[in-house]
Formats: sequence, C-alpha cells, structure tokens
Amino acid sequence: MADLLITGGAGYIGSHACLVLLEAEHRLVVLDNFSNSSPESLQRVQELAGARAETRLRVIEGDIRSAADLERAFGAGPFEAVIHFAGLKSVADSVANPLRYWDGNVVGSQRLLAAMAAHGCKSGVFSSSAAIYGNSEAVPIGETAPVQPINPYGHTKAAVEQLLADVVASGPGWRVACLRYFNAVGAHPSGRIGEAPQQVPCNLFPLLVQVAAGMREQLTVYGADWPTADGTGVRDYIHVLDLAEAHRAALDLLLGEPPQELVLNLGSGVGHSVLEVIQAFEATTGMAVPYGLVDRRPGDSASSVADPSQASQRLGWRTQRDLPTICRDCWSWHQANPQGYGPPSAPKPAPPKRVP
Ligand SMILES: NC(=O)c1ccc[n+]([C@@H]2O[C@H](COP(=O)([O-])OP(=O)(O)OC[C@H]3O[C@@H](n4cnc5c(N)ncnc54)[C@H](O)[C@@H]3O)[C@@H](O)[C@H]2O)c1
Repeated sequence: MADLLITGGAGYIGSHACLVLLEAEHRLVVLDNFSNSSPESLQRVQELAGARAETRLRVIEGDIRSAADLERAFGAGPFEAVIHFAGLKSVADSVANPLRYWDGNVVGSQRLLAAMAAHGCKSGVFSSSAAIYGNSEAVPIGETAPVQPINPYGHTKAAVEQLLADVVASGPGWRVACLRYFNAVGAHPSGRIGEAPQQVPCNLFPLLVQVAAGMREQLTVYGADWPTADGTGVRDYIHVLDLAEAHRAALDLLLGEPPQELVLNLGSGVGHSVLEVIQAFEATTGMAVPYGLVDRRPGDSASSVADPSQASQRLGWRTQRDLPTICRDCWSWHQANPQGYGPPSAPKPAPPKRVP
C-alpha cells in the first residue's frame, strides 16, 4: 500500500487507473483542474471501488502549473510516488495552440517535478505517447526507434521525456517510468466510467460510437490508399483497463527495485485497420456504422503498432482485452452515458440503425 499523488486523475485514463490503484489498496490524492473532465468520474470511481476504498481517495481541485496548488497537494502527502496524467492531448488543437500545449504539458511537468524534488518525492510514472515516434518506419515500433515527433503535441511529450532524463541524470534516487501509450480506447465494463470528450472528438472510437448512436450521419475514413492490407490506416488499440493495469505494474517495479529510468511502449502489439475496427464494432454490437472514404489527412501515417515486448519482460504485463471487448465496452459506456458525465442537454439523436 503506497500513498500516491495522481495528477489528471479525473480524466479518461486517470479515472480507470485510480480504480485499479484503489483495488490494489493504494491511498490516492488526485490533483485535477477539471479542464477536460468532471468530478463525477471520481465519484463513480469511488462507487465502483466500494466501501473498502471509502477513505483512500481524496480530490483536490487545482492546476499543476500553480505552485500554490502544488503546495496544497503535497501538503496532503507525503507521497511515495506521483502518477502524472495531467496534460493536453489533442494533436489538432496543439497545431493551432502550441503555446498552450508547451505551457500545459512542459511547464506543468517542470513545476510538478520541482515540487516533487522540494518535497523529497523522487518517484514518478509519466504519460508519454506514441506520438513521439512521428511517422516511424519501424513496424512494430520498439523503444529504440528514433524520437521524431511531427506535431506540437508530440514535441511536448518528447520534451518532457528529455526533462525527465536530465533530472534522473542529475543525481541519485530518481525512479521514473515514461510510458509511451499507443491508442487508448474502451471503457470499464460496468459502463460507469469511460471517455467523455469535452470538445468535438477527433479519434476513431468516440466518433464511431456517435455514428452508431445516430448522433452523426457517417464516419469519415481518411485515406483508402495507404500501403496496408485494405488501404486504411492501421493502429494499435489498447483497452484503457489494460493501460491502467500497466501503471500499477510499473509502480510496483519502481518502488520495489533500485532507482532507475524505465521507458516502455504500452500497446497490444497488434494493428487493426479502420475498416477492421468498423467490422468488429458492427459484429459485436449489431449496430450499423455508415462510413465514407475521403483523402488522407495531413500528418497521418499508414501504420503505428507497438512492440510491447519490453513492457512484457520488465512488468510481466501484457494486454488481456481484445478488439471485440474494446468495442463492447465502448458501446456500453456510450449507451449509458451519451453525453459523457454532462447533463443530457444535447439535441436528441436520430434513431440508430441495426446491421441488416
Ligand atoms: N488518450 C490517449 O490515447 C493517450 C495516448 C497517449 C498519451 N496520452 C496522455 O495520457 C494522459 C492522460 O490522457 P487522457 O486520455 O486521460 O486525457 P484526459 O484529457 O481525459 O485527462 C487529462 C486530465 O488532466 C487534467 N488536466 C489537464 N491539464 C491540467 C492542469 N494543468 N492541471 C491539472 N489537471 C489538468 C484534465 O482535466 C483531465 O482530467 C495525457 O497526458 C495524454 O497526453 C493519452
């Protein structure tokens, strides 16, 4: 049992990780400014974790860029480790607002690390991203593939990794894991917590469920001429609970072994094309997903699939949930929460169509 500070714990991945960490008996303080989440997610985490976890989750509203907010959070410690999810994650938004992304992701992480150092907390798990690999030619992508991000979001994640490497090299005692996530998808099977985008989504799964639910007419598929088996882009989709469990395993390793820096890809190692995802979703849920093929989108790549063998060796972890499970859990979550955690105020969707 450890005392942990979780930044961004109310968000999509953070909320699932909080549940898994509570189930592993840890005590959590979440620091979140709710800029892309709702306190409701953590109420539901508490509900799912049950009475045994009642006193082990505390929530502090605050911003990782604010020294005063960080002091308040660390005042609730001492913490054995920080798990740092807080950050901004939209590639498109980062292209339009790079200053915001460098501030939220890089300045925020720098201030968090300064607070950790000041409070003698030298262990941390950090959310990195496959975006740091850019258009990698390696398939699958191992951790030694070149770091060559192609957008401001990826630049900020690569910059934070560099900052962490510099901090680890600066003196003894730091225990750091940089976890490079591939595409996080799915939801808790209860349908109580899941991804609740506050803006118009630009990722495949949130759009796909909205089309299936009749909230959008059709799914736009960007590019049918990629050098892949069916011409559509291939990605490595990882269930958010598999991702959450990898955080628990990384934390156990960091706290149980001598100080070190771990850099690990988190993915399933299996790629699925957009058309395969649509077919799997229709087959699993019985719901039709009309789609239209259009030209490639600038900045996209043909294929991005992890080589997760390092994570498997170091953490004794591998993904447990397949594409049909991902589709089923996404759909259950969306059906129960068509407006995410928000009030049901959006216009009523058209009736969805079943697969004929
Ligand atoms: N979702 C993915 O597929 C994916 C892939 C790779 C990496 N990541 C990274 O994983 C992390 C979590 O992603 P997510 O999908 O859960 O995103 P999310 O937006 O759902 O969660 C991020 C959380 O951080 C909070 N937050 C943002 N800025 C903050 C600040 N300055 N101070 C305090 N709280 C702040 C938000 O309110 C939100 O609750 C992010 O750093 C993201 O870049 C996500």
